[in-house]
Amino acid sequence: MKRVQIFDTTLRDGEQSPGISLTPKNKLEIARQLDRLGVDVIETGFPISSSGDFEAVSLIASKVSRPVICALSRAKEEDIDVAWQAIKEAANPRIHTFVMASDIQIKKQLNKSYAEVLEMVSMAVSRAKRHVWDVEFSPMDATRANFDFLLEMIGLAIKNGATVINIPDTVGISTPDSFGQLIKYLVEAFPWLGDKVTLSVHCHNDLGMATANALVALQNGANQVECTINGLGERAGNTALEEIAMIIDTLPDLALETNVKTPEISKTSRLITNLTGYSVQHNKAIVGRNAFAHSSGIHQDGVLKSSDTYEIIKPERIGLKTNKLVLGKTSGKHAFKEYLSELEISLPEEYFKEAFRRFKKLADKKAEITEADVEAIVNEVCLSGEEVYHLVDLSVCGKDGDMPIVNVVVSKNGEKKKASAEGKGHVSAIAAAINNALQINGQITDYEVKSITEGSDSQAYVICKVLVNEKTYTGSGSDEDVLKASAIAYLRAVSRALA
Ligand code: KIV
Ligand code: ZN
Repeated sequence: MKRVQIFDTTLRDGEQSPGISLTPKNKLEIARQLDRLGVDVIETGFPISSSGDFEAVSLIASKVSRPVICALSRAKEEDIDVAWQAIKEAANPRIHTFVMASDIQIKKQLNKSYAEVLEMVSMAVSRAKRHVWDVEFSPMDATRANFDFLLEMIGLAIKNGATVINIPDTVGISTPDSFGQLIKYLVEAFPWLGDKVTLSVHCHNDLGMATANALVALQNGANQVECTINGLGERAGNTALEEIAMIIDTLPDLALETNVKTPEISKTSRLITNLTGYSVQHNKAIVGRNAFAHSSGIHQDGVLKSSDTYEIIKPERIGLKTNKLVLGKTSGKHAFKEYLSELEISLPEEYFKEAFRRFKKLADKKAEITEADVEAIVNEVCLSGEEVYHLVDLSVCGKDGDMPIVNVVVSKNGEKKKASAEGKGHVSAIAAAINNALQINGQITDYEVKSITEGSDSQAYVICKVLVNEKTYTGSGSDEDVLKASAIAYLRAVSRALA
């Protein structure tokens, strides 16, 4: 069995997805969950890029001790020094530095000669090495680079002490065949790659081949995969962690293993959806809502007779459990607490009280309370507990054919602000009223409503992307009332802009 290192970059490449803006607290919560999931390395951010990123990376470095804590930096002295400042408290720190490698990027973007690029490689790796033993080097756009030049860059990085060489398919142009060959040639050229020096791959999904490319790289000598939860990341995203982990878990003939605790997958995926506002497509492998649903008669018949007729993974393997306890409107505090502990959720007392209050309110209207309902409630309580702006009241009026009028009351640190507005539709009127209350000019650029469970009594989950001063912010909110969920989501997005 070859042990594969799982390098999670949800907090760095994943956060580069447009509209995701996680707070340092959100990032710490995600890092803690990634730790429980068993990833080997967490790429926590790009510290020079913003003070928020720096804060998040340092917070995680000081609080999460088992995995390697990695920070990204360009090949610039200041970047590398700042990356080190951010991770220096970590028990296992790593600096990841990168230099453009393809002719296209070197000529058209960097505007340097090969010799100058090679100087950057030596400088970056040796500078990082002054601070920390564990240094990862990436020749960016490696799959479009001149092969001999790529070899020179890698040789130089290793000579200067790189402990990990990462091969990015930055634009997602490789096929499994071409990527597998490239990895094979690199191992032939540097036999210690994949052994004394870790050989990593970082595949983008522009042509839908990121997971296949990562897998074939492992079969040809790579021993680290960079990936993200739910496949988030720049453009079409990166190799999805849950896919690579479950391929390895499901197919023993591959003779590969990871440290991923697969029963944590489902929960991690939901946490990322809730905090980023990026929902998962229904038919997404492993974590999509339909990944274990059987709808055709023949399939249902087979699964009822024996689940392995149409199911290659048992849902429990990724942590989808059927709770022993069933919650309903007669359930009391004790049953609710038990249910939370079955979900491994523990809340501070005041959050518990609020979650219980919301549960009772929902149970009055909805016959069957599911795990997804409870998670949505807990998530709402935790998010609103940390927020500066709160929705205190919302009223919507207007007959069919009239312009709806919305009145809102929003509070900040106990101080209430009231405002009203008209809009072409209910949601635009809500946005306009919140804009008036907060004296901000937000514009909805994307709006999505999902039902948390099946049935017409489901809670609504709304994701809203809002443009404020040319930057997009995302907010999400859930409630039994779709308009209230919309107001919460909009308010969350604009309060990120105000923060
Ligand atoms: O896609 C890419 O090339 C990257 C590098 C920084 C590794 O994200
Ligand atoms: Zn990338």
